[in-house]
Amino acid sequence: MTDRLTIKRPDDWHLHLRDGAMLAAVLPDTARHFGRGIIMPNLVPPVVTSAEVAAYRDRILAQLPQDMNFTPLMVAYLTETTEPDDLAKGFADRIITAVKLYPAGATTNSASGVRDIMKVQPVLERMAELGLPLLVHGEVTDAEIDIFDREAVFIDRVLDPLRQRLPELKIVMEHITTKTAADYVKVGSENLAATITTHHLMINRNHILAGGIRPHYYCLPVAKREEHRLALRQLATSGFERVFLGTDSAPHPDSAKLQPCGCAGIYTAPNTMSCLAHVFEEDGALAHLEAFTSLNGPRFYGLPASDQTMDLVKGDQPVAYPDAIAAGDETVTVFDPGVDLFWRVDKVN
Ligand code: DOR
Ligand code: ZN
Repeated sequence: MTDRLTIKRPDDWHLHLRDGAMLAAVLPDTARHFGRGIIMPNLVPPVVTSAEVAAYRDRILAQLPQDMNFTPLMVAYLTETTEPDDLAKGFADRIITAVKLYPAGATTNSASGVRDIMKVQPVLERMAELGLPLLVHGEVTDAEIDIFDREAVFIDRVLDPLRQRLPELKIVMEHITTKTAADYVKVGSENLAATITTHHLMINRNHILAGGIRPHYYCLPVAKREEHRLALRQLATSGFERVFLGTDSAPHPDSAKLQPCGCAGIYTAPNTMSCLAHVFEEDGALAHLEAFTSLNGPRFYGLPASDQTMDLVKGDQPVAYPDAIAAGDETVTVFDPGVDLFWRVDKVN
């Protein structure tokens, strides 16, 4: 039985760090394990221009504990008035690593996002020329489309036509949740990749709704049926090169989650590596964990894999994680995977 594993240090290719007291509270949970993170720009107001991206990067680095090394890879929030020249300059200055497309209204703080994709066609053309990746929240927002179908409809109506218009644009389908998306990325070109979250490998929609409503399992895109979770697991654990970890660790104060209309997001930063080792071992795929967490992402982004390593060990007692962390005057509940976890991060070398 394998009870020890050394992999290259993982990166998180989709991460919400927020700002202020929340940023200070959550950053160490990521920086302890992950070498780099693709930082989502959906603050209020959103992080749009390269100057705003640079200022946000500085605020993150200012909160990084002295004894930790972590590189935030910054993302600009795409709006219908984004200036192609500003993105090009931010990319050339190595401030911007990618650009995020939020369909307006799709999720938390997406009101400034894109309503009509054709309005950003000139920006996307410039990004394709530059090799600047587009990260996509792939859900339509039309009220008449069932929430469980919004990802599949987005692929048909928005993503596929976009890829036909601009095959040379690098695109990451963020946090995919369906077999439809898993199949779509598999047959896609070298310019198409997908991230998968930790929680979508572990929960399906029953976890949210059966036997009582569990706000801490509510995120967007919402978890789907079991057959979809199994398809995501199959893809993530297969070693397939164009899929990699993006935790979408998305902290919200419990006071905002536990409401008649609670917000979307699951906080997985503290226990993600324990969860993933559990999932990959369960599927007989520990040999592919490193590809998913540490190799495939940098390859797609054209970056070197980490020169550090991470040791994971499996104990005979469950690992204890806090139920919640403090953030200023608030608490943030940590993802409960619903099973005992025996793998833990021993050290980062
Ligand atoms: O569950 C989610 N939370 N999905 C998103 O797309 C955004 C995120 C957040 O910012 O809280
Ligand atoms: Zn996200």
